[in-house]
Amino acid sequence: MNPLNHVAIIMDGNGRWGIKHKNSRNFGHRAGLKTVEKIIRASIRNKIKFLTLYAFSTENWKRPKKEVNYLFNLLENFLINKIDDLHKQNIKLKIIGVKNFSKKLNKLLNSSEKKTYKNKKLQINLALNYGSKFELINAFKNLLKNKKVINEKNLRKYLQTKDIPDPDILIRTGNTKRLSNFLLWQLAYSEIFFEKKLWPDFSEKDYNKIIKKYKLIKRNFGKV
Ligand code: IPE
Ligand code: IPE
Ligand code: MG
Repeated sequence: MNPLNHVAIIMDGNGRWGIKHKNSRNFGHRAGLKTVEKIIRASIRNKIKFLTLYAFSTENWKRPKKEVNYLFNLLENFLINKIDDLHKQNIKLKIIGVKNFSKKLNKLLNSSEKKTYKNKKLQINLALNYGSKFELINAFKNLLKNKKVINEKNLRKYLQTKDIPDPDILIRTGNTKRLSNFLLWQLAYSEIFFEKKLWPDFSEKDYNKIIKKYKLIKRNFGKV
């Protein structure tokens, strides 16, 4: 059975869920947050060490201002209300992406990371204003600036996921089969699961089913 350390998730389908339930896209984002909490608990039950959640891409700034503001408000309130609880559960929060938000949110993100820095049970990597192309270009620029040899080992040191093993599993909900600029380097050998359900409908049972399937896959890494 394959060991499972790291699950990465593209949490897609909130907007459609909100509309489907005769409400707004933002209503779907609110519902999606409940799934986030559910999947955090399920990850701990499955003894997963790293959970990476794609919450906002570098391309998501192209959305209407009202939706963008709603998403960041949701995040702000979530952290204000839940960070102590996450800390008590021995969960570490790390942000991947560029923290160029409001002063208030940047401060909140930094303090949340600092507070939970030493926690050991589960590390949540929250991808916010994250784009894999930007991450890679930035890594190459740093390699050149520091006159480093360009190889895998050195490149890795300049990724935002340095110190984090590559994902074993990638899940994308929302019935869409694409990567949308997420972890292009790190997903090179991940097992990919595309899930039809919209993110707010994704359940612990669906999650466990994927994990069970993953454990039985023959992972070759190029060998036979
Ligand atoms: C959530 O799903 C992803 C975020 C950017 C938070 P979407 O908002 O992309 O939902 P759909 O795909 O439009 O339904
Ligand atoms: C990917 O979903 C980004 C997040 C889940 C945060 P999108 O809904 O933004 O992806 P596209 O635009 O459909 O590819
Ligand atoms: Mg989407």
